[in-house]
Amino acid sequence: MTCKEETMRARFTSLTLATTLMAGLLGTTTIAQADDIDGRQIYDDSCARCHDGGRGPQRGSERWEQRLEDGETSLLYTHAIEGFRGMPARGGNDALSDAEVKAAVDHLVAPVEDE
Ligand code: HEC
Repeated sequence: MTCKEETMRARFTSLTLATTLMAGLLGTTTIAQADDIDGRQIYDDSCARCHDGGRGPQRGSERWEQRLEDGETSLLYTHAIEGFRGMPARGGNDALSDAEVKAAVDHLVAPVEDE
C-alpha cells in the first residue's frame, strides 16, 4: 500500500466515524456529505434549470432565509430527495445519491446562509 493510500484510508475511516456519529445525532441513516462532492457542479447540472430558471424557488431567494430560520434544513433535504409538489425527487436525476442531493441543497441555500 502506498503512503497516499494509507492517508486516504485513514481519512475515510475518520469520515465514516464522523458520519456515523452525525447520523446518530440526527436520527437518520443517510450518509453525510463527503468532501469530494461538488454541490455547485451537481446544482448546475441537475437543479439550476429550474432553480435559476424561474420555475422553482430561486437560488438565494428570501424564501430560503425564512426556511433556515425556521430550522427546516433537514426538511429541505428530505423534500429534495423525495420530491415535493412541483419539485421532482432528486431533481429528476435518479443517479444522484442522498449526499449529492444534500450538497446541491447546500449550494442552493448558500447565498442566504452566508448573510
Ligand atoms: C423540474 C424543475 C426542478 C428541478 C430540476 C429541481 N427543482 Fe427543486 N423545486 C422545484 C419546484 C417547482 C419547487 C417548489 C415546490 C413547491 O413548493 O411547490 C422546488 C423546491 C425545492 C426545494 C424546497 C422544498 C421545500 O421544502 O420547500 C428544494 C430544497 C429543492 N427544490 C432542491 C432542489 C435540488 C437540490 C435540485 C437538484 C438536485 C432541484 N431542486 C431540482 C423544481 C425543480
